[in-house]
Amino acid sequence: MCGIIACRAIEPAPGYLIAGLKRLEYRGYDSAGIAVTAADGTTAVFRTTSRVDSLTGLVDGWAGPLLAGTGIGHTRWATHGGVSEQNAHPHQDCEGRVSVVHNGILDNADRLRAELVHAGHRFSSEVDSEVICHLVEDRLLVSDDLLHAVSGAVAQLTGSWALVVLDARTGRMVAAAHRSPLLAARSTAGVFLASDISAIGDWVEEFHILADGDVIEVTNDLVWTHAGTPVAVPTAIPRPPRPTFSLTLEADDHMAAEILEQPEAATRLLEEVGGRIATGALWNDLGLPRFDRMRVVACGTSLNAGEVIGSALSRLGGLAHSSVVASEAAGSVVELGTLTVMMSQSGETADVLRALDESPEGFPVLALVNNVHSTLGRKVDAVLSCSAGPEIGVAATKTFVCQILVGTGLVISSLVASGRMDTAQARRLVNDLYLVPEQLAEAAAAARALLPPLVDEVRGAKGFLFLGRGAGVAYAAEGALKLKEITYRWAEAYPAGELKHGPLALVEQGTPVVVVDDGDPRLAGNIAEVRARGGRIITIGRAGSSIEVPLSLAAPCGPLAAVVPLQMLALGLAVELGFDADKPRNLAKSVTVD
Ligand code: AGP
Repeated sequence: MCGIIACRAIEPAPGYLIAGLKRLEYRGYDSAGIAVTAADGTTAVFRTTSRVDSLTGLVDGWAGPLLAGTGIGHTRWATHGGVSEQNAHPHQDCEGRVSVVHNGILDNADRLRAELVHAGHRFSSEVDSEVICHLVEDRLLVSDDLLHAVSGAVAQLTGSWALVVLDARTGRMVAAAHRSPLLAARSTAGVFLASDISAIGDWVEEFHILADGDVIEVTNDLVWTHAGTPVAVPTAIPRPPRPTFSLTLEADDHMAAEILEQPEAATRLLEEVGGRIATGALWNDLGLPRFDRMRVVACGTSLNAGEVIGSALSRLGGLAHSSVVASEAAGSVVELGTLTVMMSQSGETADVLRALDESPEGFPVLALVNNVHSTLGRKVDAVLSCSAGPEIGVAATKTFVCQILVGTGLVISSLVASGRMDTAQARRLVNDLYLVPEQLAEAAAAARALLPPLVDEVRGAKGFLFLGRGAGVAYAAEGALKLKEITYRWAEAYPAGELKHGPLALVEQGTPVVVVDDGDPRLAGNIAEVRARGGRIITIGRAGSSIEVPLSLAAPCGPLAAVVPLQMLALGLAVELGFDADKPRNLAKSVTVD
């Protein structure tokens, strides 16, 4: 899991590589590095365990030969080996001739390393990717052709890879992909490679996607091969339009801005899809067959959003739904008439992509993504965008809200299209959806006013419980996930009724217990049980709650506005504790290894 970029450009490479890496930091930020060809036929390597920005200082301090326009770059999320400069990419062979950046996991790295060490190779890192350098090094001893050497080396690998190899002696650059995304693009500025179009979108108008097994050489053009045979360059895909409303990469605290942007994001989304829900067009335009049950496959926040959407289908249409953790989807039974909805903000989550690959044939799959050009978006039968715009904070916020809105709209639309709901009821439900932006804004205002003393009160707590009932359970789960991610505190979410079946034992004097109170009368008893044990109850929801948010019990997506104070509670506590909420420890925005 990592982000890679490479260029053969007219201007010096560091500017392109560092700018691109900043846009790829969502794929990991444990370390970053670049390798650039220099005028004397060597490669200059710069690596850091600080943020990408600090590479600029290292390059500025470079006193060696002039740096050229060819280079590779990498931002890392550690899988094999700790976070250290030695383990940062690019890696090199024994002689410093071959430099490599790699995204993916090599399953046979241990065996290959043992063989290479036995043959006399010297390793300087603990990272699986380093074996690629030495495999290519060996092959270059036999033939000086880098394309041939890399093709031979990748044939020895098992696992997943998107990689770029730079040969200092010849200046040649070769890339390969298998089960990890890699794009190539040409423009007047040069030829570029990247894990994601956002990294190079400022310099190119269109791009080509490497298929599994492709190996390409980057000359001043692209030489494309598959399984050792030259093939035509695949059809170009136009670069998606640059969003005009995105947050700037320079903003200090993206998560805060993204939380506050939720009303605006919801408004934009409703302008895009709202008019097509009650007519059935939102569903019909996807061209999918009628379905009788829904199976959501996703991870993390997307899974929580999927649970809300599935519950809406059951509540409004009486149809069965199931939510499957993508990493556990293998072997799950898919019944006739099932629509699988794969939900992923990034569309690059490896667990989701593997679940797709392992899905039984013949069942329709819809992707609900924030990037329709992502790997997931390209591989499924139909794709629907949650159109939240770029989300930079690692903790998902506005994409959660937009996934729920468009997913609920889709549910309503499909029920109308299949004759299971009349248009009048659909219109009433759509009107409820149009209230959401205002409700989110009100919830944010209430949280802003009321949260500071609460945050102060719970700042010393080691663990939190989050409770809800019915449609509130998924929101409680999302609140607990946010808190864990950015405050590093234990947080567990339960249906409130489950409390007395075990979790109540965790409650002691002062234990914060956050309740999503959507008005279910049974919650009062659960709250009393916690209070009786000294727990500190914080309710979010109906009138009389610690933080009141506008809710309608009949709302198609449940107590959606409650998520705003939950997000702000986590963020407020993270800030209070001095943590970087945008880049929490050990995590990455997009989890591209399984
Ligand atoms: C959300 O705050 C997390 N960063 C994480 O759980 C995330 O939702 C999960 O990794 C799934 O990502 P995706 O939506 O891009 O597939």
